[in-house]
Amino acid sequence: MPGLVKPHGGGSLKPLMLAGEALAAERARAASLAKLRVSSREKGDLIMLGIGGFTPLAGFMTRADWEGVCDGYRTAAGLFWPIPITLSTDEVVADGIKTGAEIALTDADSGEALATMRVTEKYRIDKAHECMSVFKTTELEHPGVKLVMQQGDVNLAGPVKVLSDGGFRAKYGALFMTPAETRAEFERLGWSRVAAFQTRNPMHRSHEYLAKVAIETCDGVLVHSLLGALKTGDIPAEVRTRAIGVLMEKYFRPGTVVQAGYPLDMRYAGPREALLHALFRQNYGCSHQIVGRDHAGVGSYYGPFDAHRIFDEVPPGALETQPLKMDVTFWCYKCGGMASGRTCAHTTADQLQVSGTQLRKWLAEGNPVPAEFSRPEVLEVLRAYYASPEVKAGAR
Ligand code: ADX
Repeated sequence: MPGLVKPHGGGSLKPLMLAGEALAAERARAASLAKLRVSSREKGDLIMLGIGGFTPLAGFMTRADWEGVCDGYRTAAGLFWPIPITLSTDEVVADGIKTGAEIALTDADSGEALATMRVTEKYRIDKAHECMSVFKTTELEHPGVKLVMQQGDVNLAGPVKVLSDGGFRAKYGALFMTPAETRAEFERLGWSRVAAFQTRNPMHRSHEYLAKVAIETCDGVLVHSLLGALKTGDIPAEVRTRAIGVLMEKYFRPGTVVQAGYPLDMRYAGPREALLHALFRQNYGCSHQIVGRDHAGVGSYYGPFDAHRIFDEVPPGALETQPLKMDVTFWCYKCGGMASGRTCAHTTADQLQVSGTQLRKWLAEGNPVPAEFSRPEVLEVLRAYYASPEVKAGAR
């Protein structure tokens, strides 16, 4: 029987999270180290390093890695990597940290020590260069650009030892699966050809259709929700994952789908993020990555199918996980069912395409949403969220 895809880099999974006595000892040591509070994006990256999702990285990238990734999709060691994984701080703090020193990386909200790090290098970057390479823009309205432009002016590189899952397990329970856990689950189910469905949204019928098209030709699908931070206005993870849970329960055959979540923040890097998605899904054991319309995009920064085309430029052998490229999907009234840009013979006037803004407006105003767009059970979860006092008061 064919097995699962190998982790990125061809070796075994490299989770950087300590356990048992080593964890207790390192936690005690962390208490005596100088502390650096990490940003939300950096925390997500740290937890991903901890659980092995960023195998085979050993920590935050060096200047040579940063440059190689921005300009040529390769770390200094020649490893394929599409987006820099870096840690930054401001100049004053950086001046107080000696190269070679050990520091503790702490959660900005809880103060918990998330990791220890040996700082092997301090370096400055051209932030605009990173933004142009990764996001194709330097406009501050782009949420990913904004984060890079606002980060500290000095990057710190070095290997990390991760001490915590950042509270994701406590918050999301069994939904927060590590790559070792998804691999074990796929093996238990007898799967080897596994497609990942990336999402930062509740699943509507267009998403359900994409997953089901993949199920037709794969052993199963991993519905993999982003659990980290999003831009204002996007629906929080606990609501999205609940809506996806009811959809799985009512509309998917048992044994064809696994629902899980991962700890990263959204970068909205469109095509480059699609490559990162395929890369870390390889670590989770997925042989394929569904890439639909405007994957990981925001606004109109990327063409609807730029994230398809970027996979054609990946050198052979750099990634084992392959894209399942899918056209725009929708309900077509003339077809009388779900269809796509490749299969539907009719005009846009016959097709139900609803923007996120339109949907939010309908839900916020309590107006009906067409059943052809979203399943009633999913809408029920979303309506309850939009009717909650904090959303009504505009707090989210
Ligand atoms: S994303 O930022 O995580 O990509 P979203 O959750 O909306 O956003 O999309 C999840 C996946 O579904 C992505 O692969 C995206 O390209 C795809 N997708 C979303 N809506 C459609 C659609 N109507 N037609 C085709 N693909 C879609």
